[in-house]
Amino acid sequence: MSEPIVAAKGKHVGAVVFFSSASRNTERFIISCHLEDEGLNVYRIPLKPRDPALDVREPYVIVVPTYGGGNPKKAVPPQVRKFLNDPDNRQYIRGVIASGNTNFGDAFCAAGDIIAAKCHVPFMYYFELMGTPEDRRKVRAGLADFFAKADLQTPQPTGTPTRVINRTPATLGLLSKTPTDVPIRAVQAGQAVQAGQATSTQDGV
Ligand SMILES: Cc1cc2nc3c(=O)[nH]c(=O)nc-3n(C[C@H](O)[C@H](O)[C@H](O)COP(=O)(O)O)c2cc1C
Repeated sequence: MSEPIVAAKGKHVGAVVFFSSASRNTERFIISCHLEDEGLNVYRIPLKPRDPALDVREPYVIVVPTYGGGNPKKAVPPQVRKFLNDPDNRQYIRGVIASGNTNFGDAFCAAGDIIAAKCHVPFMYYFELMGTPEDRRKVRAGLADFFAKADLQTPQPTGTPTRVINRTPATLGLLSKTPTDVPIRAVQAGQAVQAGQATSTQDGV
């Protein structure tokens, strides 16, 4: 198991895994959220192939910038695909937060849609570039609440709905990207994705 780049302070409640390219927008966002103060370990997916692989063995929410310039096949950065296509990492994903640039129109934050669909986890939040102070506040509070209330370790029977539609941004500070009825869902307190469910026989990310 890899070490977090920033370790949880006080009571450890969960983890965030993020990727950021050389432009470091997502890194700036994550660092300025001070998630360690909410009891979250922060792990970073390595940028370069020669860097040691990241192995995470605890429930986490992944935070990912979108790439590909509108090509869905390239929206999820290859480093993130590699990380998530390792079943040992993938079994612990519990949600996704995506970033992007609104200049890309319909492809804005498309990586979140793809990961949510492939890994069967909620698309919890999106933000642009390095985010705003409000984004930081919402993500910090929303993740703290999510990990505090969700029973992340309890397996649920196959086929049981584990999430509810929740498009009220004020509820958790977590919201869906699009105002349509696409199946982007937020987690209800006390409900969780079954450990291992995200790995089953899903397609690669
Ligand atoms: C080549 C390239 C392609 C991009 N494609 C998209 C895209 O399809 N959708 C989107 O929302 N943002 C896109 N972006 C914007 C990035 O997601 C955004 O700049 C993000 O903050 C980068 O995060 P990072 O600096 O942590 O890597 C693209 C950026 C670049 C440089």
